Amino acid sequence: MTPDEQKRAVGEAAAALVEDGMIVGLGTGSTAAHMVRALGVRAKAEGLRLRCVATSEATAALGLTAGLHIVDLEAAGEIDLTLDGADEIGPGLALIKGGGAALLREKLVWEASRRCVAIADASKLVEHLGRFPLPVEVVAFGHSTTAVRLAAAVRVSGIMAEPQLRTVLGEPAHTDGGNVIYDLACGVIPNPARLAAALKQVTGVVEHGLFLQLADSALVAEAAGVRRIQA
Ligand code: 5RP
Repeated sequence: MTPDEQKRAVGEAAAALVEDGMIVGLGTGSTAAHMVRALGVRAKAEGLRLRCVATSEATAALGLTAGLHIVDLEAAGEIDLTLDGADEIGPGLALIKGGGAALLREKLVWEASRRCVAIADASKLVEHLGRFPLPVEVVAFGHSTTAVRLAAAVRVSGIMAEPQLRTVLGEPAHTDGGNVIYDLACGVIPNPARLAAALKQVTGVVEHGLFLQLADSALVAEAAGVRRIQA
């Protein structure tokens, strides 16, 4: 299977977990997009009555095109099941997310969910988190001054990583919330919980892409098929 075929397979397997009447959190990214399209097909064919909360404007638009009923988190309250991609899946289902710059809304939706399933192709499985640069969402106002304190906080956690401002066509990339993203090339993150706590202390940091103890399980597409990993 090509990587995209793996993403489609896992997206379809994830959509199959949804039951009639559920409130469903819809993730962001190319794997989640396969799940959204597959869920739209299922909902139409089976007449499923679903309400869906999107983790980004892009996913909301895709969900509407797929015929899904999109509501906002405020209206939904508690979510039954969230299905979302990941940039890395490490030991204990600790994740790095935010490659698609949607980490803040993603984390808000995950934390409002009874059950969260990470969906990915096998390339996302790692022995240690940190090969994928860790995205950190920062308030746009004075962001470069925040980046200096961010670098210091990361150093105190034993990691030498210069925050890199994410750009598009030479301009800072903005999230759906109007913030900017700094990516931290950590290499190996020896203690993700310690780093997460340090990042939370930095004024101007809105959220980081470490998703710890949030995933209940993962569906991972491998050559032999889709494997379920339990937390
Ligand atoms: C977006 C995310 C995505 O879920 C993550 O980047 C994985 O994306 P893809 O499925 O395209 O590899 O966290 O903020």
